[in-house]
Amino acid sequence: MNKNKKITILGIESSCDDTSASIIQNGYLLSNVIANQDVHKAYGGVVPELASRAHQQNIIPVVDRAIKLANINKSEISGIAFTRGPGLLGSLLVGSSFAKGFSLVNNIPLIEVNHLQAHVLAHFIKEDKKENKEPEFPFLCLLVSGGHSQIILVKDYFDMEIIGQTIDDAAGEAFDKCAKTIGLPYPGGPLIDKLAKEGNPKAFTFTRPKIKEFNYSFSGLKTAFLYFIRDKVKEDSNFIENNKTDLCASIQYTIIDILMNKLKLAIKQTGVKDIAIAGGVSANSGLRNAIQELADIEKLNAFIPEFKYTTDNAAMVAITGYHKYLKGEFVGQDITPLARMPI
Ligand code: KG4
Ligand code: ZN
Repeated sequence: MNKNKKITILGIESSCDDTSASIIQNGYLLSNVIANQDVHKAYGGVVPELASRAHQQNIIPVVDRAIKLANINKSEISGIAFTRGPGLLGSLLVGSSFAKGFSLVNNIPLIEVNHLQAHVLAHFIKEDKKENKEPEFPFLCLLVSGGHSQIILVKDYFDMEIIGQTIDDAAGEAFDKCAKTIGLPYPGGPLIDKLAKEGNPKAFTFTRPKIKEFNYSFSGLKTAFLYFIRDKVKEDSNFIENNKTDLCASIQYTIIDILMNKLKLAIKQTGVKDIAIAGGVSANSGLRNAIQELADIEKLNAFIPEFKYTTDNAAMVAITGYHKYLKGEFVGQDITPLARMPI
């Protein structure tokens, strides 16, 4: 390959309720456009049918904007990368169909991307005028989102081993469901984070699950929280209102404690020096502090993503596509999206 050749990747993300497009050139971010879908707020969660319709409406303007903001011409795009899975099938179909059409019409290679790998590889996105520090292989990545909670041993860009994962709910789900229990709208994670800042994390204690090895479980905590609130409200109908910040601080503290304890075990067992967090819950200020604190104490290198790369975005898809392009890993027009897709 010509060393001076510019490799320009258009990334498309549509696995859940964010429609996003991004341009990455030689590993450097040129644009990252995200259209959120407010339509789900009224329902307390993502409604798959509404998500696919909104993707259909958003995809063309979002791609158009990403190309304009990157200040490139469509003809400069070397490859198109799209999220193949895991995710909501109807949502994935919009992004994958668009990518296939774009590849065919513009005669450029098509690249499939695993959404979970993309969350991890977001740590390799470079930006102009930034330090661009990257984790060294092998490193551990705690991937925590609305759908996943995993400890991943990352041996290379495309050689990842899940060494621990949730056996039921994901950490993001625990945040969102506990938030719902105290009347906060969806998604409750960011609201818990905000209110927790004003509360006492030790005000209420909740028991930790006893799960083997590096695995997690959050469904017991969710239920314990629900029963705790139900009993307290019976005694005092204003209990939630009077204790909202303490409740948020305590539940956040518990979830982070559970996450960190298993991560510490994994660090001890693997002996890795670089630790990273990724996924929507990695936006949580308590988790970000906890990871940095652990790294400072144990003399490890912590990699904490910028907020814009924590929740779903196409820049992470484009950087993954870029590294696949370098390896010449392309797919044909017969590719189909997958609701479930191992890392
Ligand atoms: O990665 P993501 O955007 O989508 C999935 O692939 O699931 O993650 C969304 C999840 C939601 O559960 C949301 O509540 C949670 O990430 N989240 C947070 C915060 N920001 C987003 N949870 C706790 N604290 C936050 N600041
Ligand atoms: Zn995600």
